[in-house]
Amino acid sequence: MANATHGRASFCNQAHALVRKNLIYQKRQKCDTCALFVSPVMIVLFLKVILDLSRGTNKQTVPIVPSEICKRTPDDFGCEIRNPEKWPPVMQIPALEYRAVRTDFMSYLDLPDKSCRKKGSCPVTILATGSNQSLGRGVLGQMFTNASFQNYSNSWGNLSGLVLGSVMPLGESYFFDPAFMDLYTIQQHCSSNSSFPLPMEVEFETVSPVIGCVQGLNLWRNSSSDINDELINGYSEGNTKRQTNEIAAAYDFLDSKKNVFSVIIWCNSTYKLGDGGEPDTSTAMLLRVPQLVNLASNAYLRFLRGPGTNMLLEFIKDMPKHNFPMSPDLSIFQLFASLAFTLQLQIAAKALVYEKQRNIRIMMKMHGLGDRPYWTVTYAFHLILSTLSILCFLGCGKLFGIFYITKNDYGIQFIFYFIYASLQVSLSFLAAAFFSNIRTVSVVCLVATLVAVLAGNFIFNPLLKDPSCPSEWIFAMELFPFFSLFRGLYEFEQYAIRANKVGAEGMRWKDLTDSMNGMREVIIIMIIECLAVIFIAYYVDQVVSSGSGVRKSPLFFLGKFGKKPFSPLQKPTLERHGSQISKLTEKADVVLEREKVEQLLLESSGNHAIVCGNLKKVYPGRDGNPPKVAVKGLSLALPRAECFGMLGPNGAGKTSLISMMIGLTEPTSGTAFVQGLDIRTFMDEIYSSMGVCPQQDLLWDCLTGREHLLFYGRLKNLKGGALMSAVEESLKNLNLFNGGVADKEAGKYSGGMKRRLSVAISLIGDPKVVYMDEPSTGLDPASRNNLWNILKHAKQDRAIILTTHSMEEAEAICDRIGIFVNGSLQCIGNAKELRARYGGTCVFTMTTTSECDAEVEKMVRDLCRDARKIYHLPGTQKFELPKQGVRIADVFELVENAKGRFTVHAWGLADTTLEDVFIKVTQEAEASEVL
Ligand SMILES: *[C@@H]1O[C@H](CO)[C@@H](O)[C@H](O)[C@H]1NC(C)=O
Ligand SMILES: *[C@@H]1O[C@H](CO)[C@@H](O)[C@H](O)[C@H]1NC(C)=O
Ligand SMILES: *[C@@H]1O[C@H](CO)[C@@H](O)[C@H](O)[C@H]1NC(C)=O
Ligand SMILES: *[C@@H]1O[C@H](CO)[C@@H](O)[C@H](O)[C@H]1NC(C)=O
Repeated sequence: MANATHGRASFCNQAHALVRKNLIYQKRQKCDTCALFVSPVMIVLFLKVILDLSRGTNKQTVPIVPSEICKRTPDDFGCEIRNPEKWPPVMQIPALEYRAVRTDFMSYLDLPDKSCRKKGSCPVTILATGSNQSLGRGVLGQMFTNASFQNYSNSWGNLSGLVLGSVMPLGESYFFDPAFMDLYTIQQHCSSNSSFPLPMEVEFETVSPVIGCVQGLNLWRNSSSDINDELINGYSEGNTKRQTNEIAAAYDFLDSKKNVFSVIIWCNSTYKLGDGGEPDTSTAMLLRVPQLVNLASNAYLRFLRGPGTNMLLEFIKDMPKHNFPMSPDLSIFQLFASLAFTLQLQIAAKALVYEKQRNIRIMMKMHGLGDRPYWTVTYAFHLILSTLSILCFLGCGKLFGIFYITKNDYGIQFIFYFIYASLQVSLSFLAAAFFSNIRTVSVVCLVATLVAVLAGNFIFNPLLKDPSCPSEWIFAMELFPFFSLFRGLYEFEQYAIRANKVGAEGMRWKDLTDSMNGMREVIIIMIIECLAVIFIAYYVDQVVSSGSGVRKSPLFFLGKFGKKPFSPLQKPTLERHGSQISKLTEKADVVLEREKVEQLLLESSGNHAIVCGNLKKVYPGRDGNPPKVAVKGLSLALPRAECFGMLGPNGAGKTSLISMMIGLTEPTSGTAFVQGLDIRTFMDEIYSSMGVCPQQDLLWDCLTGREHLLFYGRLKNLKGGALMSAVEESLKNLNLFNGGVADKEAGKYSGGMKRRLSVAISLIGDPKVVYMDEPSTGLDPASRNNLWNILKHAKQDRAIILTTHSMEEAEAICDRIGIFVNGSLQCIGNAKELRARYGGTCVFTMTTTSECDAEVEKMVRDLCRDARKIYHLPGTQKFELPKQGVRIADVFELVENAKGRFTVHAWGLADTTLEDVFIKVTQEAEASEVL
């Protein structure tokens, strides 16, 4: 096991770090987070407004609970009805508290006193007028009689002789008449025993109806305009000042005679139930008219022929019908709710792709975050966000009394939405596996959801309502996740509408077994899909996309059974053949290093932090190009506490080498051991003791420097006080402490600040091996010096591999330097050695007037025959002098001489710099490559 000081962070610690980071990230993504919680609220409010505008939330509750919606009860909602119920005709009567009483603005004084409202004895008033008063009054007198109840106690059928009335409004059809729940006989006088049980078999336990008695009052008016005045005076809708004084109905018998009966009927079509009830549809009231007609014609007949005569309307029943589409209007609930939920897809996918696009996912992995915690925590995190959003939606729905939500069982609703949310989070993982650009993914998600919502409304819904559409088609369409959401919402909506209109229950658990209800089917589909999608997403993420570093083989999951993992002790088989050839051309120092590595691999002693054994990387040829060899068999051994500087021109293979070392790409052959662990098999363990400062700064724009360090510190298993002090210390060390820089969002940092933060991240948690790719680019000289000091301090107990283009930097902090050209090391050693080996010359510069150039050259050649002119401008010349054979004193003498003969503007003598070495080595290497 790696002997990192803090050990590998446990699943819990990694999860903790990730959760804290996600919370902060989500908090800073104000728009998205707002959308997540505000959108359900907005949508519920919008629904509320629409409902209020159209019909208002229907608060009417009917105290009856019909159980099997389709078999027994109402059915304007799509069920087939082969044998409709028959219902006795009923007259609509005003609720007790609105019945007409005597008031100041009435010209007729024959109405009862107001006190009857308290006593509950207000009569139901009917007005009449006509040209022949004696005939009219006579007919009126026959309307309400006193019936004896005994004769009506055995059957529904016998009731037809009575005048029935109810305050319950009828629905839109005669399939079901709720009047029986509140039924009265209207009589001339009610006696104490005027109530009797309803002779109907009622299967619903909650009601045991009785037929009560209401007094009927029929009053004569002088003219139809008097009736109109009285009606309008009693009208109260929308006017609270006037007293409600409702008349049940009014008749004008016109000029009816003995042989002609003609009549006008006033009836109130905007009927309202009880306190605050909303007006029902007008058709509903008009369905109550037959009783009013029958009442008048029956009375007329009795008036002419005597009380024994009857013209009875016994029953009314609707015509039988087939299934028909339930609610033909646009399903607003479905539309809005689907918008509220599908929005979350985009938000989750964006958050996931953000980390992938910026390579932060890899960065986290390199600092020890395993795939398992990443997937679990990220999944759970987004699921929880969605769940909160669902709760918000349901809560608001309850608060505002949106009947679509309140009528159905909250448990079913929650379970359904929760499962959909899980499916959606899985889908966003899938989207994130395929896309790696945040813009693309948000556009794709947005378009997909909009198209899906529209398609759902205009294609899926009509098919769903069409009874001739085969259920297999519907099932097939439901496999598309958005449509399964639609189906579920559709069921909720249908149950809620039924419940609202006819007082049935909304969806309950037992309804899931109903074959008409698609909810169970949809829930099962979604659960299966959710598991399948998350599996595919994981697979794609591992195999296809580079979101988590090394791409695995398409059959990676078989690997565990197929081949044995490498043990750290197993020696890699070095490619003798290949190295043999290169040895011929390799410099002695590089060969020495190779031999050292071979020795180390045999001994497998653990005191070298990094051992690269003949590491090779070949990129396969594309489009007819030959394969590109990026790293040609590199051998390198780094003891602890060494900083190795890698110099090399652009494209030399430095980054390829580092990519292999940090597990981004796999070596083509050869391997490396970090802390004794093979990078081919133990990368996950290696990550926990590794730090990386990549060439580009991989940071979250919305997290502060301190939050970055806290996150990576936690990944490195730092906790509590140790974490705090480590973070404070590295902030201070890297000059990120002053002026509140630490608590500024990293997106607002300057390039240098970002760079320093990246370095701080790579060093936090005391990693044993650190890779730094050009850490000082973009730093001002002061910060750079500061950084060097930190690195000098940091390298004391860790191995650092550093690439740089600054020779000064390499000399300042690296213990050894390797120059890397065309995929192989050209030389290796400390700066002094290299200078001595490749330098061996010094550069002499002299500036005079241009006429003296020839003379200067001659003098230099006299001093040393091997002098080489390396630079010439009229007046200024540079010569390279081999150190052997030239004494500094001779050079001074030459200068003194020259000064005697002509004017010397300036002169100089310089030792070779590392830069010269670098240029020389690269030129040599490139020259030999061409050969
Ligand atoms: C009014 O009706 C009564 C009873 O039917 C009848 O006797 C009388 O002639 C009618 N009066 C007029 C003016 O038609
Ligand atoms: C009630 O029924 C009995 C016999 O069934 C009959 O004699 C009586 O006249 C009926 N009463 C009324 C008011 O119809
Ligand atoms: C109605 O007519 C009768 C007799 O024609 C009259 O006495 C009475 O005052 C009239 N009522 C009203 C309110 O006009
Ligand atoms: C008709 O019914 C509505 C609703 O119940 C009521 O507000 C109105 O006053 C009634 N109109 C009359 C003339 O009674």
